[in-house]
Amino acid sequence: MLIKIPRGWEIPEREVTPEHVYLNRREFLTGASVGLIAGASGLILPGSRGFALPAGKDEPMPVLAPLTAPRNPEYKTDRPITAERVATGYNNYYEFTEVKDKVKDVAVGFKPRPWEIEFKGHVEKPFKINVDDLIKKMTLEERVYRHRCVERWVVIFPWIGFPMKKLVEFAAPTSKARFVRMESFYRPGQAPGQRGGTWVNYWPYYEGLTMEEATNELAFIVVGAYGKILPNQNGSPLRLHTPWKYGYKSIKAIKRFEFVEKQPPTFWHTAVPNEYDFVSNVNPNKPHPRWSQAHEQLVETGEVVPTKLYNGYEKYVAHLYK
Ligand code: MTE
Repeated sequence: MLIKIPRGWEIPEREVTPEHVYLNRREFLTGASVGLIAGASGLILPGSRGFALPAGKDEPMPVLAPLTAPRNPEYKTDRPITAERVATGYNNYYEFTEVKDKVKDVAVGFKPRPWEIEFKGHVEKPFKINVDDLIKKMTLEERVYRHRCVERWVVIFPWIGFPMKKLVEFAAPTSKARFVRMESFYRPGQAPGQRGGTWVNYWPYYEGLTMEEATNELAFIVVGAYGKILPNQNGSPLRLHTPWKYGYKSIKAIKRFEFVEKQPPTFWHTAVPNEYDFVSNVNPNKPHPRWSQAHEQLVETGEVVPTKLYNGYEKYVAHLYK
């Protein structure tokens, strides 16, 4: 019998590969293949969920300040809201760790307040503002949105926030602005993922939208969820959610909005150019270079369902891409 003793430098694949790449080969396999057979009806696959279960039932939830706002009835989903414990216990936040059900624990030491946000580039006058002063200037609402990761997992969030259009108006961009570049924080002392590992040379996380996307009614600046301020692991104190795009466009913990003329580079496109593009709309007919996007899986139930074009938000955004 051949027994292979790994040498020190032979680290497991999961330690050198981002989880959404790793998941492609292993975790989603069962769900995706059965989902294809199940067709449009959807299917619950007990025991076949590709996901590590989030926080156990007995684990205490963190106590966060309440934050409530009236629900906007325009934005509904065809699925129930995901249990808070599940949606806030299963995260992608590479600044902290690539292990999804550990992000909440590693991010516990992150200090999202005080937090200053900078507005720069093609704006009437560049400025900085404290996040809570910014929030006070906005009218908050609750929106129930589907959140679809490129790794094909889905959660349904009751976000609290305000339309990004209002933030753009507040920034007062000039006519030269054609794109918004957004940048997250750089704090290696609080974020172990910024101290080493595969992505060490790429921080801070950065993303971008066209002005038409940023001012589309769906683009939402999120400051709370589940009737509370946003937990660290979901991007406190302030993050973006563009529900018609893959989750990686929805940058967390934003420090900077810059209005620019040229399409800005984005984190994942820079790191893995052949796999992630600028637009990144949810599209069942456009496979990721290494896996199909035809199906997706609800984290909470394990149900596998067909992916919808623009994540089901076609009527709001299809005109942007004609
Ligand atoms: N923003 C930052 N700053 N860092 C990240 O690693 N991950 C992205 C996105 N925003 C990420 C980020 C990815 S890949 C996804 S799927 C979503 O955040 C996950 O958001 P959630 O953990 O709130 O569900």
